[in-house]
Amino acid sequence: MKRLSLIVLLAFASWLPAAADEGMWLPSLIAQRIDDMRAKGFQLTAEDIYSINRASLKDAVVLFDDGCTGELVSAEGLLITNHHCGYDAIQRLSSLEHDYLTDGFWAATRADELPSDGLNVKFLKRMEDITDRLAAGESRERIIEQAAEEGRYKASIEQMYYGNQQFLFVYEQFDDVRLVGTPPSSIGKFGGDTDNWVWPRHTGDFSIFRIYADKENRPAAYSPENVPYRPAQHFKISTRGIAEGDFTMIYGFPGNTQEYIISDAVDYIVRRSDPAKIRIRTERLDRIARAQEQDPAMRIMYASIHAGIANAWKKWQGEALGLERKHTLETKRAYEEAFEQWAADRPEYRDVVRDLKAEYARIADAYFALELMNETVRAGELNRVYRRSDFGERLYPQVAALNRDLFRILYREYYDNCPGQYMIPRFAAEVERLGSPEAYADLMFEATHREDDATQAPELEALRADVKRTVERILGVLGRCSTRNLNSERLNELYTVYIRGLREWDRERAFYPDANLTLRVAYGKVAGYHYADGIYHKPVTTIEGILAKDNPEIYDYDIPQTLRRIIAEKDYGRWGVEIDGRTTVPVCFLADNHTTGGNSGSPVLNARGELIGVNFDRTWLSTMSDVAFDPAFCRNIALDIRYVLFVIDRIGDASYLFDEMEFAR
Ligand code: ARG
Ligand code: GLU
Repeated sequence: MKRLSLIVLLAFASWLPAAADEGMWLPSLIAQRIDDMRAKGFQLTAEDIYSINRASLKDAVVLFDDGCTGELVSAEGLLITNHHCGYDAIQRLSSLEHDYLTDGFWAATRADELPSDGLNVKFLKRMEDITDRLAAGESRERIIEQAAEEGRYKASIEQMYYGNQQFLFVYEQFDDVRLVGTPPSSIGKFGGDTDNWVWPRHTGDFSIFRIYADKENRPAAYSPENVPYRPAQHFKISTRGIAEGDFTMIYGFPGNTQEYIISDAVDYIVRRSDPAKIRIRTERLDRIARAQEQDPAMRIMYASIHAGIANAWKKWQGEALGLERKHTLETKRAYEEAFEQWAADRPEYRDVVRDLKAEYARIADAYFALELMNETVRAGELNRVYRRSDFGERLYPQVAALNRDLFRILYREYYDNCPGQYMIPRFAAEVERLGSPEAYADLMFEATHREDDATQAPELEALRADVKRTVERILGVLGRCSTRNLNSERLNELYTVYIRGLREWDRERAFYPDANLTLRVAYGKVAGYHYADGIYHKPVTTIEGILAKDNPEIYDYDIPQTLRRIIAEKDYGRWGVEIDGRTTVPVCFLADNHTTGGNSGSPVLNARGELIGVNFDRTWLSTMSDVAFDPAFCRNIALDIRYVLFVIDRIGDASYLFDEMEFAR
């Protein structure tokens, strides 16, 4: 009993609001946090952050391409986001003659800016708590239709706190977005997958676009007649620099967190889901990397596939380690027990933890089967037809050899680990008929690798059809659930009650809704951290660190010759600043803002709301913050805006872009 209460006490201590810069707050309710923000150094008001009556900082932030964030930096629609957020658009605009990924791109005039078909940005016009309206019987469809004002806006309703609150979001979407500038990948992706999720970091992860509108400043499909959009607000840029401890705020669109899940869900993630997915991806990445090492053409062909697989793979490893280190499972268990004691004589909450546990037990196998299927049978490399003519005589044998391996490995993983009752019937039957998953893998390999020009493989179509049926069957068991991250309909109902109970019971805890790709404010400070015994990670990196990593032999570390020369000669010109007694250019910095995927490209602001950086990553050991935020360890990684300006000027020779930017004095 004594022991338990100590653990409970520790559990509470870690959630005291003052202890952490944890939290992703709703902008329309930021008044509830503004005193805390100001106590930590912020100098603006809640109205400056979010207002529907006048221009506010929210009007300078966009949801970029439905998965990233971008920020306006001029009165003429200029916006900055990450290189990895613009990557698809840049790739689509590239060709053999114009390889903008490799060489970079800088539009010398407005007329040179490149329309990026398929890219859109959304501004949040307003958000509104409509919990009461819905409770009073208004229909969701009608509220959405009304808010859309005859197609002028896009409206959606998102639930917060598992349905305890419902919010209406109204967006204005722009589809004419043009590429203005991007550094070469050797800067924008410097360090590649090796440095991804890692500190110290030196990636110049930014790209620049411009939003175009019609003459009335309204959204319009691409037209040469369109003019640069005039935003209600844009960020001033601060080049005054930063120091450890300085206030920081991040304004952006975090995608997915699950801070309130019970211990059983953490147990599933740490012990079952993450390890299986990591193991499978390790095998997959090993094979791909080996094929890449044998041939530069293979390296290029698999670069973005490898990067895509490796990104979550590394993140999950850090997440599992972080949650173990922080004893999140035990802490959550103690917290739930304490809640249950409180709830014992409250009928509406008495059974909710028990019911949650029962529901997790009920769905675990079904959900795992779904996750496993996505990582194996539905893996991208196994789901297309490979024609010799598409790859040529030289590459086809290498692609084929790699794929034969991948089929065998991934089919074996699926067969050995899928809970029997949820296995794809056709898969099970074929393994039975042929004797082993490898034999079935060989058959599917043959079916999808063709000498002729067929675009379809009947065997693949048949398997896909059965995959679809199996997914339907599993979703039938889980129950359709619209909430991100939640695996069953029943869980959503139970969490609605559980969260309501927690908020009644745990008055000290600062509750914020889980991320769901709606606009949020996170605040904190520039901060290093103790990485390991005896190792402190300082929060700032500098340009000489790029030269230290530079290696023309290694693709990801081969910087442009111009940059090599500038650093070697310390030819920094107006960009040189004094750090630790030497002249340098700052590159990246760490802060303890609570961020997640989707926050890529988010503006990092100082106490005056001026732009000091562009968010693009976290350290891998801190990705646990999607489940539990550890203030001692969790750090986001931002690009220093001064390095962005340096690259625009000295690599892009595009300093004319500064004419339309506004610099804080
Ligand atoms: N880790 C960052 C994010 O989660 C950047 C990913 C892109 N970069 C890469 N090297 N794969 O999305
Ligand atoms: N790179 C991530 C993104 O694309 C941000 C890193 C994170 O998960 O915090 O949104």
